[in-house]
Amino acid sequence: MTDRREITLKINGTEYTINVEARRTLVDAIREECGQTGTHIGCEHGVCGACTVLVNGNPVRSCLMFAVQAEGQSIRTVEGLQQGEQLHPLQESFMKHHALQCGFCTPGFLMLAVGVLEKNPDLTDEELSDLLSSNLCRCTGYENIMKAVRAGADGMK
Ligand code: FES
Ligand code: FES
Repeated sequence: MTDRREITLKINGTEYTINVEARRTLVDAIREECGQTGTHIGCEHGVCGACTVLVNGNPVRSCLMFAVQAEGQSIRTVEGLQQGEQLHPLQESFMKHHALQCGFCTPGFLMLAVGVLEKNPDLTDEELSDLLSSNLCRCTGYENIMKAVRAGADGMK
């Protein structure tokens, strides 16, 4: 018998009451049950970072977390970055510095960077490089992502 639970996920301030199997990953629940498809799925085993969201302000690979574990916690996804018509400084910066090509990895990079920079906007280049190397991009070569995050960090201060 399948173990299902009714849980409430709070994503970008909106509550979604959903019924999921206990083994349902957070990223699947965010995309399928809650309809927030901005968070992408790549490797599904914690390597690529495409599925990165913030849980209580901390970057989390949502393919490695069960949806039931996220109940009652504050989840932020890429859909929550833009405020009205106003893009987040990092989104503006990614556009300005051509930090995306196909864009598949971009939501993960944005959420990773937002989560870290909100706590420490003054990362050194070495720390920034170390941070960004944790997510995979097959298109850009990383240089423009580095530039965009550096410039976006200044915009967030
Ligand atoms: S899909 Fe989660 S880390 Fe790749
Ligand atoms: S922009 Fe295509 S994978 Fe990063």
